Amino acid sequence: MKSIVITGVAGLLGSRMAEWILQHQSAYHIIGIDNLSGGYKENIPSAVEFHQADISTNNLDLFFENKNVEYVFHFAAYAAEGLSPFIRKFNYTNNLVATANVVNACIKYEVKRLVFTSSMAVYGIGNPPFFETDTPNPIDPYGVAKYACEMDIQIAGEQHGLDWCILRPHNVYGNNQNIWDKYRNVLGIWMYNKINNQPFTIFGDGSQKREFSYIEDCLLPFWKAAVNENTSKQIINVGGTTAYTIIEAATVLQEIVGGAELLFLEQRHEVKHALPAHEKSIDLLDYKDITSLKDGLATMWQWAQQQPQRKRMEWDAYELEKGMYHSWK
Ligand SMILES: NC(=O)c1ccc[n+]([C@@H]2O[C@H](COP(=O)([O-])OP(=O)(O)OC[C@H]3O[C@@H](n4cnc5c(N)ncnc54)[C@H](O)[C@@H]3O)[C@@H](O)[C@H]2O)c1
Repeated sequence: MKSIVITGVAGLLGSRMAEWILQHQSAYHIIGIDNLSGGYKENIPSAVEFHQADISTNNLDLFFENKNVEYVFHFAAYAAEGLSPFIRKFNYTNNLVATANVVNACIKYEVKRLVFTSSMAVYGIGNPPFFETDTPNPIDPYGVAKYACEMDIQIAGEQHGLDWCILRPHNVYGNNQNIWDKYRNVLGIWMYNKINNQPFTIFGDGSQKREFSYIEDCLLPFWKAAVNENTSKQIINVGGTTAYTIIEAATVLQEIVGGAELLFLEQRHEVKHALPAHEKSIDLLDYKDITSLKDGLATMWQWAQQQPQRKRMEWDAYELEKGMYHSWK
């Protein structure tokens, strides 16, 4: 039987992609790898052959040898962009070194295509809208790691014939998102805040603009990234097309959850308006913005309220304290 490897299978993208493949592409066996550092076992569909392993340190042969792996969706990463300057070494190990391991395995076992989720973070401040042809200019170690991964994958394509598609998603949200990590996923953080009777926290004045991507609108495009002929060796932004200021997004969620106070925190080192171009994802992946932020958040809020009261994910010690924001100290 043909297999698909999904790294990060316990996380938002990994678990939902696994679910989608099981429903729509039943010819494939799914091998899922995750160290459960940021995702939960409960998210993983039971039909997945699950291996709890850290891909930054483990030899991946076990998961590829004699498995007839056609496609790899490499989603595993720690995507705490704002925290990455304070956990630099961890960021590069977990996001870049881990990707080198995956690339090695893809070459060695001759997979048909590697789909890698990079990030809009590679653009940095840029000049929105960000086009895939823009020269990346990341402003933090997370963006640097993603850009380095992209370059490494492209080099593997040139020298070793690896086929790849690099996606740059932005602000994906939906059921199975980690809402307990205080450093990432703003919409999930607000849901955690509401459940725990806390105000919605906002860095800076909330005028920064983002576009939010509902996970279910992204899954067919992710699949197309793996199998379409015209997505081979392409870099493609993917996700929602409507820009919101952070305050506007908070207002949408306030209405759904029945109100919440806003608590403004000190300004973070972050991009003011992170707005990618969408033309390529519409042309090559047939991306469609089907779900409004309001509808997507209403579904996620239903799900969030049924989740167990998990302990908040906080770092015991950062690699660097200098310049750390008060709210994370
Ligand atoms: N969600 C977004 O808005 C977004 C936007 C752009 C890019 N991305 C990228 O998409 C990918 C998936 O994001 P997500 O939102 O599903 O994140 P997530 O945290 O929900 O899932 C990532 C999963 O990877 C696992 N993981 C982390 N490090 C690992 C390691 N060393 N070994 C094995 N497993 C490991 C975690 O336990 C987690 O289950 C990431 O690469 C992220 O950088 C996400």
